[in-house]
Amino acid sequence: MNKYQKTENPHLSTKSVGLVGLGLMGTSIATNLLLSDYSVKAIAPIPSDFETARTQIEKQLFHSESLGLLNKPVAEYLKEIKISYDYSELKDCFLVMECVIEDFDIKVDIYNKIEACVDEHAIIGTNTSAIPISSLQEHLKYPDRFVGIHWAEPAYATRFLEIICGEKTDLEKANFLFNTAKSWGKEPTLLRKDIRGFITNRLMYAVYREGLALEQDKKASIEDLDKCFRYDVGSWISLMGIFQRMDYIGIDHFSKMLDKNLPNLSNCEEIPPIMAELLEVKARGIYSQKGLYEYTAEEAKHWEESFAEFNNEMYHLANKYPYEFKSKNDNHGK
Ligand SMILES: NC(=O)c1ccc[n+]([C@@H]2O[C@H](COP(=O)([O-])OP(=O)(O)OC[C@H]3O[C@@H](n4cnc5c(N)ncnc54)[C@H](O)[C@@H]3O)[C@@H](O)[C@H]2O)c1
Repeated sequence: MNKYQKTENPHLSTKSVGLVGLGLMGTSIATNLLLSDYSVKAIAPIPSDFETARTQIEKQLFHSESLGLLNKPVAEYLKEIKISYDYSELKDCFLVMECVIEDFDIKVDIYNKIEACVDEHAIIGTNTSAIPISSLQEHLKYPDRFVGIHWAEPAYATRFLEIICGEKTDLEKANFLFNTAKSWGKEPTLLRKDIRGFITNRLMYAVYREGLALEQDKKASIEDLDKCFRYDVGSWISLMGIFQRMDYIGIDHFSKMLDKNLPNLSNCEEIPPIMAELLEVKARGIYSQKGLYEYTAEEAKHWEESFAEFNNEMYHLANKYPYEFKSKNDNHGK
């Protein structure tokens, strides 16, 4: 048993997790926790959450059943979630995760409400996509128990999870969560430093910038950029990541390619016109069926379901190739 769990948290129920915010991600995280046999105390900060969350979670559990992820009936899982407006329901949780809209002040207000109810040793997490953990942490009474817990949608079918330390986060608590996340079926990464954008998003911003620059300069179409990425990068990335790929291709070859190509890459610092134009007409992507592509309502729904199914298949495929090599330069956190 983890030292933190044993010495500091003995009186907290280790199977109860609190969630505040039951939108797209909050419900999906709740489903993942239920599937992992945790009890969920869910707080609805706005009335519409209260009206829709249970139905949404039930729908996701049935979808998980079709993916082969259930080992008991849906109704049995649903017994383990309590949805309420009352923050005092969180009092026995060893962990409470905030999952409300990306608004600094609203998030901080939620932490004050959580801290007023939970045990002083309970861990508090945020699913923020982009707000630095260190800046949110400043507003907590006990900042050392605050961590970023960055999920990917749909949380019940993806393996990704980043655990992010802010400047004042207790590493032992973050490590405890890192180990706990494995019991949620995740392949977690522990970020000991509060990297702006975390890891995956930060890497992807570089790719998005380059793709948008090529489109902007009329050098490649959106369709062709997606096609190349899917059928080239998509054929190796889940097996190798970035750096195992470099070793696989050959460092000498790779360094020559980098040397020639780095000067050609975009260093644009502004959102390109194509995005601004879409924002102007309130295009949100599949949520409004209008984005960089056009979708019918059926296509948008099908796309969401296909993504969960694809992730589930990828999970099994990647499990068949569990290569883990030791890196020569592990400077992380030093
Ligand atoms: N959607 C994703 O793919 C994704 C991925 C990673 C992280 N995130 C992050 O997760 C968080 C939630 O995102 P989402 O996609 O679930 O959003 P969402 O719009 O589906 O849900 C937002 C939720 O915020 C809460 N909320 C809204 N207005 C509020 C208010 N005035 N006061 C208190 N609570 C309020 C409600 O619970 C609402 O359901 C955000 O911080 C987001 O950046 C989202």
